[in-house]
Amino acid sequence: MITDEQKQLIEKINQLKKEKNAVILVHNYLNPEIYEIADYMGDSLGLSREAAKTDARVVLFCGVDFMAETAKILSPSKKVLISRKDATCPMAAMAGVEEVKEMKKTHPNAMVVAYVNTTAVVKAEADVCCTSANAVKIVQALPIENPIIFVPDRNLARYVQLTTARDIILWPGFCHSHHFITEQDVVKAKQKYPLAKVIAHPECSKQVLDHADEICSTEGMVKYAKESEANEFIVLTEVGMVNRLKRDIPDKHFCSPEFSNEQAGICPNMKKTTLQDVYDVLNEEKNEVVVPEEIAAKARKALNKMMELS
Ligand code: 13P
Ligand code: SF4
Repeated sequence: MITDEQKQLIEKINQLKKEKNAVILVHNYLNPEIYEIADYMGDSLGLSREAAKTDARVVLFCGVDFMAETAKILSPSKKVLISRKDATCPMAAMAGVEEVKEMKKTHPNAMVVAYVNTTAVVKAEADVCCTSANAVKIVQALPIENPIIFVPDRNLARYVQLTTARDIILWPGFCHSHHFITEQDVVKAKQKYPLAKVIAHPECSKQVLDHADEICSTEGMVKYAKESEANEFIVLTEVGMVNRLKRDIPDKHFCSPEFSNEQAGICPNMKKTTLQDVYDVLNEEKNEVVVPEEIAAKARKALNKMMELS
């Protein structure tokens, strides 16, 4: 439910966008009022593609830091702003660049696949990047003789390992919001909604993924639910995704399980952005994202390789 105050802000933001030749890219997990000012909503892959192709002068990113950094790397001539400077991804912080360099020395024959949820300096050390939407495809495209160091999400890495049967060296990173969803949470939700299809993000643990009818990126969930004949869906990812699904597919029923761990299902960083933040950042053109060109050039190679392979 959008309040009158929010409606006024939405109008002011839309006016500013025109004046400043700006586009606003919004990740699916953001609060639903932020969807109202989005030029594009989507998953990390879709948002990267939009960032790469836009003609706008300013790109305002509503999401977390690695996504805005990726937009800047792919669109270096654009002014890229982030809605909240303190919106970070704790999982991206679980792969330090020095540790990645050490791992490369230990496995000199290995190729490094960096999930897009990494810092720019880690992307700069990678052979190729991937997102949850294309991780399987990217890994399958790499030479069979090379083992793969996959950073930082061990759940996604294990899912890719099981799907591709490739030699993957797991990194001990994980996302709290997904990793702490338990098998018991899913079993209870299935008992409550026995006809529901289970759609899960590959950042969930294997025990949880084993219950899924479909494993996909956040935008993949929208596509699957639209095309499915089912009317009910249990959604195993950050709770904000349920809002996006309900918005696009209002005649179907979507729910998150009841989570037994308080860290499960919530990404506090994705919830920080308010409409007032968006207005202030665009109005003042503040929170500019800067990636030093020597890092950006290397990271861009890994991102472009991903675009080419997907
Ligand atoms: P998607 O690319 O599937 O939207 O996932 C991003 C993310 O951060 C998942 O936690
Ligand atoms: Fe990072 Fe997890 Fe939040 Fe996605 S949901 S941004 S992986 S902490």
